[in-house]
Amino acid sequence: MVARVNTVSFQGIDVKPVDVQVQISNGLPAFTIVGLPDKAVAESRERVRSALHALGLSLPPKRLTVNLAPADLSKEGSHFDLPIALGLLAAMDVIPKDDLADYVVLGELSLDASIRAVAGVLPAAMHASANDNRLICPQVCGGEAAWAGDIEILAPHNLLQLINHIKGTQVLSQPEARLNDMDARKIPDLSEVKGQETAKRALEITAAGGHNLLMIGPPGSGKSMLASCLPGILPPLSPREALEVSMIHSLAGTLPEGGILRHRPYRDPHHSASQPALIGGGQKVKPGEISLAHNGVLFLDELPEFNRSTLEALRQPLESGNALVARANSHVNFPARFQLIAAMNPCRCGHLGDSDLECNKAPRCAGDYQSKISGPVMDRIDMQVDVPAVSVADLQNADRGETSAAVAMRVQAARDRQARRFSALGADITQNAHAQGHVLEQVTEMTDESRILLNKAMENAKTSARGYYRLLKVARTIADLAGSDLIERSHIAEALSYRRIALND
Ligand SMILES: Nc1ncnc2c1ncn2[C@@H]1O[C@H](COP(=O)(O)OP(=O)(O)OP(=O)(O)O)[C@@H](O)[C@H]1O
Ligand SMILES: [Mg+2]
Repeated sequence: MVARVNTVSFQGIDVKPVDVQVQISNGLPAFTIVGLPDKAVAESRERVRSALHALGLSLPPKRLTVNLAPADLSKEGSHFDLPIALGLLAAMDVIPKDDLADYVVLGELSLDASIRAVAGVLPAAMHASANDNRLICPQVCGGEAAWAGDIEILAPHNLLQLINHIKGTQVLSQPEARLNDMDARKIPDLSEVKGQETAKRALEITAAGGHNLLMIGPPGSGKSMLASCLPGILPPLSPREALEVSMIHSLAGTLPEGGILRHRPYRDPHHSASQPALIGGGQKVKPGEISLAHNGVLFLDELPEFNRSTLEALRQPLESGNALVARANSHVNFPARFQLIAAMNPCRCGHLGDSDLECNKAPRCAGDYQSKISGPVMDRIDMQVDVPAVSVADLQNADRGETSAAVAMRVQAARDRQARRFSALGADITQNAHAQGHVLEQVTEMTDESRILLNKAMENAKTSARGYYRLLKVARTIADLAGSDLIERSHIAEALSYRRIALND
């Protein structure tokens, strides 16, 4: 008779059910796993064998066949160890066959039969909850799984505990939902940045409306420092956002302590990052940096130093909020609604426009340097702001500027206004940057003077349709920060000041 255990396989953010079927039959001793296993799954034979040995059980000298159905879905990861081991135990009549019928099982086994953390427990728990199943997962992942709602979870530390629970000789208690504190990094305060009032204002607007921002300035003027202050002024994740973000991080295996994330993600990959690292994919399809930055910030420092094709690959996700990775045998989709913050020098020496410091190739070298970023990528950036060198007077000024906490309060108020407005319209968005079509038209009511200024600027600048809408969204956010429902002339004027039509004009 065949023993069956339910587990899952991950296709991007989608969870596919997998049926682990185990049969022990007469024949030459062999242990085979079929059903498109990858190397980690194939190697689980040795881990399972050793884990059972550690419990004093040895595999019967017969023909053991493990089938992972459906057979045409490729199976990746080490979480198949535990379901395979339980399937074998059921087939060997160590545990009753029927007791596992409504459990979804995942976990990696150590040689000593302890159960190690695996990626994807939260999405698997959501899947189990949606199908009225129960879940068996590693103990360390229990705090993450418990967020999936009303679901019964067994989170054993080792295989023996689990067998004892199933046989009724020990009771495992339901794990408690946990928060993950690993992302509580040290965030510099905005008040530590001297001068740079325009850049700070631009940062506040981007945080309030979820817009993209490019900072351009000479070396050492504080661009990277300003960007690192951003997490301190962003509002915390809403419960729904936290669940979305944690599902992606769970799949990427970046929640080692289990628990759900509370802080808005802030990812700052180095400019040597490859396209699969940034967008997702690779040999094992993992979420890329843009998906890990979902509902948060992707900071690309030294933008022109990124590989050109890597930057171009950002174009589609920047518009759609999704990263679609096509592989030979499947398409994998990860959410990637992130806010792009970028920083760059105006030229290779970095001192363009400063007659004392600029090199003898200026301004030609600036054109070469800036042209590394294509027009379409530039068109997707809502705001560009100059971050000039700070004067000594500013550096020596003892007055502390506004703190991040004060700015964060204004940002939160502006976000609340946006969320209320969008929910009144029945739109499933919360930030101005994501408004489109009819919704955008409905939320961008403006005065006559505003329209006159806007039309005049558009005539002169020959902006793209995308540029026009992005400008409107920034103006909407500026009005929200000012507490105004109508977009006034000054709001349009400020939005225009952040949108340069070409970098070197
Ligand atoms: N406006 C500022 N106020 C206070 N300190 C500053 C300011 N600008 C720069 N600094 C100091 O200089 C250091 C370097 O700044 P930062 O790394 O932000 O420069 P950058 O503009 O990113 O330069 P690069 O173009 O070379 O990357 C900061 O860590 C900080 O100590
Ligand atoms: Mg820098």
